[in-house]
Amino acid sequence: MLNQEERINALDMSLAVEISKRRTFAIISHPDAGKTTLTEKLLLYGNAIHLAGSVRARRDQRRATSDWMAIERERGISITSTVLQFPYKGHIINLLDTPGHQDFSEDTYRTLMAADSAVMVLDAAKGVETQTRKLFEVCRQRGIPVFTFINKMDRPAEDPLGLLDEVETVLGMQAVPMNWPIGDGESFLGVYNRLTQEVHLFDRTTRNQTISPETITTLDDPRIRRGLSDSRLEDLLTNIGLLNELAAFDLAQVQQGQQTPVYFGSALTNFGVQLFLDDFIRYAPAPGAHHSDAGSVPPTLPEFSGFVFKIQANMNPRHRDSVAFVRICSGRFERNMLATHARTGKLLRLSRPYKFFADDREVVDEAYAGDIIGLPGGQAFAIGDAITGGAAFNFDPIPTFPAEHFARLYNVDVSKQKQFIKGLEQLQTEGAMQILYEVDAMRRDPILAVVGILQFDVVEARLQEEYGVATRRQMLPHTMCRWITGPPEQIEQLPWRYGLLRTQDAAGRLVGMFNSAHELSYYQGKFPQLTFKTTPYPY
Ligand code: G4P
Repeated sequence: MLNQEERINALDMSLAVEISKRRTFAIISHPDAGKTTLTEKLLLYGNAIHLAGSVRARRDQRRATSDWMAIERERGISITSTVLQFPYKGHIINLLDTPGHQDFSEDTYRTLMAADSAVMVLDAAKGVETQTRKLFEVCRQRGIPVFTFINKMDRPAEDPLGLLDEVETVLGMQAVPMNWPIGDGESFLGVYNRLTQEVHLFDRTTRNQTISPETITTLDDPRIRRGLSDSRLEDLLTNIGLLNELAAFDLAQVQQGQQTPVYFGSALTNFGVQLFLDDFIRYAPAPGAHHSDAGSVPPTLPEFSGFVFKIQANMNPRHRDSVAFVRICSGRFERNMLATHARTGKLLRLSRPYKFFADDREVVDEAYAGDIIGLPGGQAFAIGDAITGGAAFNFDPIPTFPAEHFARLYNVDVSKQKQFIKGLEQLQTEGAMQILYEVDAMRRDPILAVVGILQFDVVEARLQEEYGVATRRQMLPHTMCRWITGPPEQIEQLPWRYGLLRTQDAAGRLVGMFNSAHELSYYQGKFPQLTFKTTPYPY
C-alpha cells in the first residue's frame, strides 16, 4: 500500500508524463499551399484517417463560396475539426485548425494563442505569401517555435537556397534545412537527410491513403546519378557540401523562435511527411507555463486551469448550441469536477465537456494540460475567461487586433430592439467584432469595429438568421481607434468635433476613432501626456 505522500508523488509523476506526451500546434499557410493536404497526411500517419473527411469537407465548403457564406458554412462543420487529437508514437498530438478563409480575422489569432508551436506550410513554387506573413507575425509576437514544411516539391520549385533566403529575410528567422531536396518537379528524386546523411527516395506512385515504406539509401546510389543531369548532380553535391557552412540546428534557438527547422516534401504524395512528423514530436515543445495575475502557471500544477480561446454559438440553430473552447493550461481535468469561473466567481460543475477526437464530439472523462475541451452553454463565457479548479486567477488577457474598419449599425425594426441588443452582445462575446458607442450622440446606434471587412457581412447575416433582426449599415471613414487615457483637461482639448470621433466601449472606456495614422501621430505629438493604446488593457 502506498502512503499518502507516495500516492501524491505517483500522481504528480503520472501528470508530468501525460503532459510531456502532448504536442499542441496549429498549421499556418496561405490558401492553397497545402494545409488541408498536410493535415490529412498527418492524420494518415497518426492512424486517424477517419478524421480527414471533416478537414476536407471544411476546405471544400470554404472554396465553394467566396463570400461570408464560406465562413458561415465552415462553422457548421468546424465543431469536429477545430481540434483534431490523435496519438503518434507514444505522443498525443492536438492539431488546432485555424480558420481557412482569406479574410484575416481575430479568430485565427486566438487559435494561435492556444497553440504551443506552429507549422508553416509554404508552396515550393511560391515561397512566403501574404497570408503566411501575417500569421507568422502572430507566432513571432507569441514567441512560439515555428517549423517550416516546404511543400509540392513534386512540382517545379524555386531554388531551395532562394527559398531559405526568403524565409530568413521576409520572416527574420534563421532557416535551418533539416533535409535537402534532390531535384524538383519531374526530376524530384527525394531528400537528403542532413543529420543521418541518408537519402530518402521519392516514389511518384505513392498517393493518398496508403503508407508505403520509404526507400533509404546513400548519395552514391546509381538511381540518383541516373535521375539527374550532370550539371544538376554537380549542383546538388556542391549544395550538400555547403550545408555544413549553413547554420546548424540548435534546439534552444528553435524553442525561442529564432530558428525555424525546414523540411522539404510533397504532402500529396506522402513524401517527407513522416520524416517531418518524427522530428516534430521530438523537437516541438510540450505544453509550457502560462502567465497569470497569480504568477506563472506551470502545466504540472496539480490544479486544473484553462482559458477560453474561442466561442461558437448557434451552430445548430434548433438548439441554440454554444460551445466555449478551453485550452487546458495546467493539471488534470476530470468530468464532473467543480471549477471556478474567475471573471464572475461562479462555481461551475463541468459535467458535459466535449473532446474532439472522433467523427463527432464525444463526452470526455479526463484531459490534461495541452488538451482542448469544449464546454457547452458557452453563453456564460467570454473570450479570455479563466476556469480554475483551485484558487481563482486570470491569465493574461488575449490581445485584440486593432480594428481597421468601422460602420454604424441601424436596427430597421424597432420592435426587434431586444433581439438586436441580445444578438450584438452574443456576437461581441464570440469576438466577432467590438462595439463602440458615440458619446453625446442623440441615438445610441452601435458602431461596429472589425479587423477584416468581411466581418460586417457575417454580423449582419447572423443577426438576421439567428435573431430575426434586419439591419442597415453605414460605413464610416475611420481607419483606426485608440483607447485614450490621461489628464481630463487635455482630453477635452482634442478636436473632437472634426473627424475625430469620441466613443466609448461596452465598459465605458474612452475610445477615439481616427481617420489615418498620420492624424493619430499628429495628436500623439501634440498631446504627449495622453496615451493612445490599441487595447483597453493596462499594458
Ligand atoms: P490549403 O488547405 O492550404 O488551401 O491547400 P490544399 O491542401 O487544399 O491544397 C491545394 C491544392 O494543392 C490541392 O489541389 C492539392 O491537391 C494540391 N497539393 C497539395 N499538396 C501538394 C503536393 O505536395 N504536390 C502537388 N502536386 N499538389 C499538392 P486542387 O486540385 O486544388 O484540389 P484537389 O481537387 O486535389 O483537392
